[in-house]
Amino acid sequence: FAFTAANQTWAEGQITKYPEGRQASAVIPLLWRAQEQEGWLSKPAIEAVADMLGMAYMRVLEVASFYFMFQLQPVGSVAHIQICGTTSCMICGAEDLIAVCKDKIAAKPHELSADGKFSWEEVECLGACTNAPMAQIGKDYFEDLTAEGFAKMLDEMAAGKVPTPGPQNGRYASEPLAGLT
Ligand code: FES
Repeated sequence: FAFTAANQTWAEGQITKYPEGRQASAVIPLLWRAQEQEGWLSKPAIEAVADMLGMAYMRVLEVASFYFMFQLQPVGSVAHIQICGTTSCMICGAEDLIAVCKDKIAAKPHELSADGKFSWEEVECLGACTNAPMAQIGKDYFEDLTAEGFAKMLDEMAAGKVPTPGPQNGRYASEPLAGLT
């Protein structure tokens, strides 16, 4: 692994933001940029970040493995799908969404679909409980999902369509309740 020239310049700029001896503070931005470049964090990528920051590989791996925003295995070329499985989403149908993932993508989380286009995992609460059940696809939230609608969305994405984020039934949590305006 090596950062592109542009990313290398950017990474060096990040490191200079911190006082001498505190370069490790740049670990998350550098990991994030490495993941944006490669799609996931390979061992060589983590080693490269560790070398740049003068950190032990294990210390950087500890950070990368703590946050589920970081992917330590290859992800689908079209999308990596994160299904919230915490209480609100679980009650409102997360298991149905996971069943769709198992059926259409792969039996186990973090496995690639046969065509390499998708991967999935179950994650903890993503803070959109009001519009449960929900999934994060790429950097976007898709809320108020139904199993049928989610399955259709995956089919359309596989065919090249870009889905519209947000509540899939048009229900916005920030809308004032009737009678309170
Ligand atoms: Fe699913 Fe909070 S419980 S977003």
